[in-house]
Amino acid sequence: MNDTFLKACRGERTDYTPVWFMRQAGRYLPEYQAVRGKVSFLELCKSPELCTEVTLQPIDIFGFDAAILFSDILIPMEAMGLALEFHEGRGPVFPDPVRDREAVDRLRVPEPEESMPFVLETIRLLRRELSVPLIGFSGAPFTLATYLIEGGSSKVFLETKKMMFRAPELYHALLEKITACTSAYLQAQARAGAQALQLFDSWAGVLAPQDFQRFALPYVRSIISDLRAMTDVPIIYFANNGSTLLPHTTTAGADVLGLDWRINIGDAIRQVGDHAVQGNLDPIALFLPRQELEKRIRRLLEDAKGARGHIFNLGHGIVPQTPPEQARIAVDAVHRFSGR
Ligand code: CP3
Repeated sequence: MNDTFLKACRGERTDYTPVWFMRQAGRYLPEYQAVRGKVSFLELCKSPELCTEVTLQPIDIFGFDAAILFSDILIPMEAMGLALEFHEGRGPVFPDPVRDREAVDRLRVPEPEESMPFVLETIRLLRRELSVPLIGFSGAPFTLATYLIEGGSSKVFLETKKMMFRAPELYHALLEKITACTSAYLQAQARAGAQALQLFDSWAGVLAPQDFQRFALPYVRSIISDLRAMTDVPIIYFANNGSTLLPHTTTAGADVLGLDWRINIGDAIRQVGDHAVQGNLDPIALFLPRQELEKRIRRLLEDAKGARGHIFNLGHGIVPQTPPEQARIAVDAVHRFSGR
């Protein structure tokens, strides 16, 4: 078992810097496209055999140091009782957005083994196959709430912020339900065998710091504190576009803070005390010519030297247009340049 990733999460010394990429299983891989060509995205998410297959693809092809469970952050929202659709080219859609008290009251807090057995079964299957650690994940409550309230992806988050500012009690009631669902879901993943857990707060960066503190952070903290009571698996908190939120995200209780590329990793490390960090190459840097890409990677590794632990990653998900060969160049470069 290659446990370099887990050691880096815990701030222990490693022989080299471990690397994985957010969205490493996905459309940039012809091998993924081949599987996806036969089923819809939701069907894929609900088939443990196919999820296992696509989770393993990037590990086998590129030699990443960790695997991330193939699923989607919105799966538990469907389990709360909401219709969920994925539209080609448009992303996720909730045809019945959650915007009033009745809609919040209708939401269930699902029992994960009962309502999402396929996710937990995928984790069990993967643990038998993998020789690198398996990361489980969920969305963070604020990010999940934006999809429910907006009915899909958004640019200005008008409905979400309107609810926050004008109907804070309703907003908090919704967030409490999402938090209860997410907490139980991540606990179930840990029990099924996930060896680390990442909370994706993809939209945290659209909030003013004081709003982040009031409307997003308490729910993340509550989930992490529930997890601490039942497991010692490392917890990664990724607040995208969150460099100005670091004074707050450092209080979330996570072991590792995920960083997007908008901050120099060395500057971030000076702010995060004894947290390990994960990140933070601009995903579009993978389109650079080899020499320049390698130069950036070398520089990033250099800048991250003062970290309590560093897990190399992109600053957000790999984009579908990325030539797979570029992922290989990056993984090899991280391993080569960081070898001690
Ligand atoms: O490899 C991995 O990282 C594991 C799988 C994974 C997916 N989604 C698969 C996926 C993970 C960890 C996610 C998380 C996720 N999903 C997030 C948080 C991370 C982030 O990017 O900020 C968010 C916001 C979602 C919601 C979501 N799912 C959107 C907005 C979309 C459409 C946009 C897009 O990239 O197509 C999805 C669909 C989705 N999730 C795909 C994949 C591989 C593409 C679906 C397809 O095959 O057509």
